[in-house]
Amino acid sequence: MGNALRQAGRATVHLALVTCLTSGLYLFIPVLVITAVAALMAVGAWVVPEVVLVLRRIAGTHRRMTAEWTGREIPEAYQAIDGSLRVRLRTAVHDPGTLRDLRWMIALCAYGVLVPPVWAALWPLGLIVDGVWCGLLRRKPFVLPLISKVADMEARWSTALLRPSPRALLAARVEALATTRAEAIAAHEAELRRIERDLHDGAQARLVALSMRLGLADRAFDRDPQGARRLMTEAHSQAQEALLELRQVVRGIHPPILTDRGLVGAVRALAASCGLEVAVEVKGGLEEGPRPPAAVEAAAYFMVAEALTNAAKHGGGMRAEVHLERVRAGLRAVVQDDGRGGADEDEGTGLPGIRRRVAALDGTMGVSSPPGGPTVIEVQLPCVW
Ligand SMILES: Nc1ncnc2c1ncn2[C@@H]1O[C@H](COP(=O)(O)OP(=O)(O)O)[C@@H](O)[C@H]1O
Ligand SMILES: [Mg+2]
Repeated sequence: MGNALRQAGRATVHLALVTCLTSGLYLFIPVLVITAVAALMAVGAWVVPEVVLVLRRIAGTHRRMTAEWTGREIPEAYQAIDGSLRVRLRTAVHDPGTLRDLRWMIALCAYGVLVPPVWAALWPLGLIVDGVWCGLLRRKPFVLPLISKVADMEARWSTALLRPSPRALLAARVEALATTRAEAIAAHEAELRRIERDLHDGAQARLVALSMRLGLADRAFDRDPQGARRLMTEAHSQAQEALLELRQVVRGIHPPILTDRGLVGAVRALAASCGLEVAVEVKGGLEEGPRPPAAVEAAAYFMVAEALTNAAKHGGGMRAEVHLERVRAGLRAVVQDDGRGGADEDEGTGLPGIRRRVAALDGTMGVSSPPGGPTVIEVQLPCVW
């Protein structure tokens, strides 16, 4: 009975939230009707996209509630509403997602009124009937579990109503790929420019100075051997500096340690040198099996490097954990620190750079950093092993 009560309680919370949402929708409908009339009269065209965005947000809330109950995400596939008013209006009206949301709203308003009386009636009935049934006859309760069934049914309906069509999902996927591809090209160009600048200002400048020193030394060789020797010493140290700069440039492109030791070895080296106490956990046979593609290894490596640097620089904690895992769809890497939290991607350049790198490989990145910590950064990089 205790279990049935708990489960019925959970279902009631879910259904009560859906009921609140439905009540909100009843208030929203007049806004929608007024918008339609205003738009028809051509004075309120600018409100249409805004109203559609609000509708999307409400539908999103229902998606999250349903996912909370079923444990399964309901994907979203809307076209982005931005640009000039004309473009926004056209997208808002033509996006099949708008029609789907309207259909969902009408259906929810229709069946939403039936749901609260059902669960409200099932409670007293369940408490009495199941109380007798369990308490006196020692049988399993059967009325209270019906409340969960109602919640299940509601979740099934809302999933069917809120789930985009396969076509819309595909369109959203294509759009996302086009965006990440454009970003990948931009990131690649920026990377090339950075390397060019690094080489130009660093190694190239040193090599020019070195070549001048050697020329001077050559000319001074017979007449001033002492001076020539001094110039040679300077040239030597410049050659070493140029070498150092070249090494740094190479490390920024593809760290040699990755090639030599693989991802796990390279991450262990990072962990040992970052100034925090870092535990590295490796799962899924990442160490023994075949290696992931070089670009995937590099993205995971740079993410771990950035997250550990951030933890040491901004976090103020003592410890961090790194998880590397080979999963069916690719590679998963997580870094968690015990610092003060508050990582904000809009504040810096490190995390956005990692996000672009990950997106270019069609991967995903999640950052969670509530005030007080912990900061958790997770990337999933799809690849074929
Ligand atoms: N692990 C962390 N703990 C606390 N704050 C963080 C952490 N990581 C990042 N931050 C905050 O988020 C901002 C953005 O980080 P990032 O993009 O890496 O930029 P930055 O170049 O400043 O390191 C940082 O300036 C810092 O204030
Ligand atoms: Mg940083």
